[in-house]
Amino acid sequence: MYKTSLRTLKMSISNFLTMFLLIEVVACDFRYGPDGLNMNYYFMSCPFVEPVVQNIVNNALQNDPTLAAGLIRMHFHDCFIEGCDGSVLIESTKDNKAEKDSPGNLSLRGFEVIDGIKEELERRCPGVVSCADIVALAARDAVSFAGGPVYDIPKGRKDGRRSKIEDTINLPFPTFNASQLITSFARRGLSPQEMVALSGAHTLGVATCGSFKNRLSQVDPTLDSEFSKTLSKTCSSGDKAEQPFDATRNDFDNVYYNGLLRKNGVLTTDQTLFTSPQTRNIVYAYAMNQAMFFFDFQRAMVKMGLIDVKQGSNGEVRQNCRIIN
Ligand code: HEM
Ligand SMILES: *[C@@H]1O[C@H](CO)[C@@H](O)[C@H](O)[C@H]1NC(C)=O
Ligand SMILES: *[C@@H]1O[C@H](CO)[C@@H](O)[C@H](O)[C@H]1NC(C)=O
Repeated sequence: MYKTSLRTLKMSISNFLTMFLLIEVVACDFRYGPDGLNMNYYFMSCPFVEPVVQNIVNNALQNDPTLAAGLIRMHFHDCFIEGCDGSVLIESTKDNKAEKDSPGNLSLRGFEVIDGIKEELERRCPGVVSCADIVALAARDAVSFAGGPVYDIPKGRKDGRRSKIEDTINLPFPTFNASQLITSFARRGLSPQEMVALSGAHTLGVATCGSFKNRLSQVDPTLDSEFSKTLSKTCSSGDKAEQPFDATRNDFDNVYYNGLLRKNGVLTTDQTLFTSPQTRNIVYAYAMNQAMFFFDFQRAMVKMGLIDVKQGSNGEVRQNCRIIN
């Protein structure tokens, strides 16, 4: 009698454990880390969010492939200031100068693409999808459009209510040395290796002369002498003249890192990744192995996308991405 009930008890404990494990397995799919974000956040409330975003991004990039760079950079600037909360999209008002109006905004691009996505999603599921999630998804889709890794990201960010010009002082400057870069990324929980992988986003797009002319005033031993002439030639057209970061500005690849090996980095912060003993092995590895770069990049992007995300009443779902509700 006693033995049977013990066995029954054991069995029900083990059943209970199995059940619990199953629940955990299912739940894991629906949760992501302590932030309460998850892969299926809009599964019930806006099931077509991902194809809608991807379609609009693809159409925009087919018209103008250079916008992929703009969308990826927008997500970076959003996350590094006040967390990934869509604050980068806010317009200044008469009482508030927003992040966008900082000199550090330097040529951010792609805002109309975000507006287009928001309009379509407001038609389909009003008040549901945050601008912060739209920016994160658009960046993800831009990476794959340009030939980079394809990956899933957790969703469920809320939009912030603060966007102040003075906060942009917290963006890394293009004149930083490796230690300063490492510190800046460490403040957001990102490792030196993740910093180097994320810098690989400079495989896309351009820098304007104003961002690198500091390297041309005297001989810079970390800058190839031929490439120095190229940069000077670009700058002869003024501070707004554009210099591609690598030889394939619309292709997401590891050509950027190979350029660093030849001292063809554009910004001080690009070249310093290879000059500095703290990070040079990582640059070398990514230059030799594109698959390794892709793998690390996608993981680092997911992590960057979780910086200080707003939840519940700490945020809102903006109706218009440019205006706080
Ligand atoms: C490591 C620290 C970083 C610094 C100092 C930095 C700085 C800059 C600067 C100065 C420009 C050129 C702006 C201009 O002159 O118009 C630029 C462009 C760009 N940055 Fe970064 N960046 C950094 C990291 C990142 C990260 C982490 C990403 C994305 C994951 C990113 C994505 C881009 C892209 C795609 C462009 C080209 C934009 C375009 O063509 O419109 N950058 N960055
Ligand atoms: C960036 O800021 C400048 C002023 O510093 C402003 O003229 C420009 O319109 C801003 N760019 C964007 C995309 O808002
Ligand atoms: C990097 O810059 C900081 C601040 O200017 C300076 O204190 C530090 O010595 C520099 N590190 C290297 C390795 O040059």
